[in-house]
Amino acid sequence: MSNQIPEEVIEAIRKANDIVDVVGDYVQLKKQGRNYFGLCPFHGEKTPSFSVTKDKQIFHCFGCGKGGNVITFLMEIENFSFYEALQFLADRSGIPLPDNLQLKKESSLSQESQDMLSAHEWLTKLYHHLLRYTKDGKEGYTYLKERGINDTTIDAFQLGFSPNVAQFTAEFLEKKGYHQQLLVKAGLLRVTDSGKATDRFLGRVIFPIRNHLGKTVAFGGRAIGDHKPKYINSPESELFHKGKLLYNFDLAKRHIRKQNEAILLEGQMDVIAAYQAGIRNVIATLGTALTDFQAKLLKRYVNIVVICYDGDRAGLDAAYKAAVLLQQSGCEVKIAHLDPDMDPDSYIHTYGGEAFEKDVIKASDTFMSFYMRFLKKDYNLNHEGDRIDYMEAVLKQLAKIDSPLEREYYIKELSNEFNISIAALQDEIFGYREKFGLNKDNQQKNRYTSSKLWNARNSQLLPASHNAERYLLAYMLQDIRIAERVQDKIGAGFQLDAHKIIVTHLYAFYEEGNDPDVSLFLGRITEPGLQKIITEIAMLPLQEDISDKQLDDYIHMIIANQTDKVTIKSLKEQQKLAEQQNDPIKAAQIAMQIIEIKKQLKNMN
Ligand code: GTP
Ligand code: MN
Repeated sequence: MSNQIPEEVIEAIRKANDIVDVVGDYVQLKKQGRNYFGLCPFHGEKTPSFSVTKDKQIFHCFGCGKGGNVITFLMEIENFSFYEALQFLADRSGIPLPDNLQLKKESSLSQESQDMLSAHEWLTKLYHHLLRYTKDGKEGYTYLKERGINDTTIDAFQLGFSPNVAQFTAEFLEKKGYHQQLLVKAGLLRVTDSGKATDRFLGRVIFPIRNHLGKTVAFGGRAIGDHKPKYINSPESELFHKGKLLYNFDLAKRHIRKQNEAILLEGQMDVIAAYQAGIRNVIATLGTALTDFQAKLLKRYVNIVVICYDGDRAGLDAAYKAAVLLQQSGCEVKIAHLDPDMDPDSYIHTYGGEAFEKDVIKASDTFMSFYMRFLKKDYNLNHEGDRIDYMEAVLKQLAKIDSPLEREYYIKELSNEFNISIAALQDEIFGYREKFGLNKDNQQKNRYTSSKLWNARNSQLLPASHNAERYLLAYMLQDIRIAERVQDKIGAGFQLDAHKIIVTHLYAFYEEGNDPDVSLFLGRITEPGLQKIITEIAMLPLQEDISDKQLDDYIHMIIANQTDKVTIKSLKEQQKLAEQQNDPIKAAQIAMQIIEIKKQLKNMN
């Protein structure tokens, strides 16, 4: 943890960034009682066990145990250093960090990656400036205008142009102090056969590719006219992994979350055209098939994904594959339909954004309808045999749908199309569901979603005295008066070492004049293991007003357990001694005493 940053600054920044909002940028949260729940971004799961508490400004996952405050969340999810997390939150809330701190920043990125990032930033500005304001970039500007892209959009996406002058960028960046070797490694320059380093994109329109934080990490360059290849992308690098990044995710994610729907497109131009038409929840893969990583990333933000790929054969195949992956990751998928000669960009160009939204996106098919249409390509439905095979394939898929009402809808469609009775189709589906083991009710419900449940489960596993310590700590975390009472009675005399350390910190925390504030308190605990325990404890469901009597019961449970343990230890020593002294009667008496105490302990626990 950095010492150079004044406590008050950290505190002000933390207060200005509600953890629910910050986490909400990464996880789709649902309010449930006083807490928010979602799928844990730190471990794969299908039922939500990740929770955020607004009152306490902390998060905790009941599944993997990670927990902390808004700063630790960012450090964990973005791999930020403490300083970077703070900088991020400062920018987000418009609270400036003192200038002299800029020098002291530690970064989680290697020096090389930091240099690559800043080189990309310079180049983004250069390419954009050339396109927008210079003769050298006129060709690119004209091209975009002809494709209907206006200045506002050009600026929003920082579109640019790389002039056809081989040494232009190399010289620009070398003057800024970058080593040629680094620029080649970052893919910004290319070494020609003659050993010269030249610009990679010569004469192309530049699409900066931003990561989810809005930083350019690569470029796409589109040829003007019919040159091949049509697009050149930066190569993969430490900063840029095609399969992990979604184009425009940084600008779209707010809208995706708000609308609980993402629109997945195929190309950069499609995204840009949709964006310009006012459709903002749009993202795209970069000319490659959707990956499992990307599907899971999307699921963290959204429940519904509308896939709108090119209308041609390749687009249909890719849409099917993406749909299956997204469904596996738990998203509901819809698939939009475009004519074979259309892509979203050309559709919007021809019919306008409103038509695109209304007639394409809103009119998209459910996965099942799409699948029924998609499958037909493999069968000649004029042949009896093919018809049956087709129907079987459809019924198999239909059997996987859990909602009987939804199933019935498609059964009716099939029944109409192939003139087969509904009852017969239902029988078939029942058979498939038997085979898949789907006919029984699925009893595995979210076991961890309620902290009460989770708590009940855990209480059974822990001895009563440990539980007493946990509850006592939980009350102490939220009430100074209780902390003082415990301090008076037992000080740091808890049994578990972790609890001892925590109360010691907590007493110091209150003595410094702080009010109860778990999130702030967490800030001074550096050890992740302890942070985890604290957040777990802070999530325990507590009574509104607990009586002194109840508190004392907890305290006694801890003391009693301790004294009993001490007694047993000393009795065991006496027993050993009696054995050594050859006094079996005494030894047996002592053994009885031990058994008695153990029995009592067991009853209590
Ligand atoms: P425009 O023709 O400019 O409208 O592009 P598009 O988006 O319609 O292109 P297309 O549907 O053919 O391809 C979709 C995406 O695949 C593009 O946005 C690029 O990212 C990528 N892509 C297309 N062609 C190439 C290529 O020749 N090389 C590489 N590396 N990527 C390509
Ligand atoms: Mn296109």
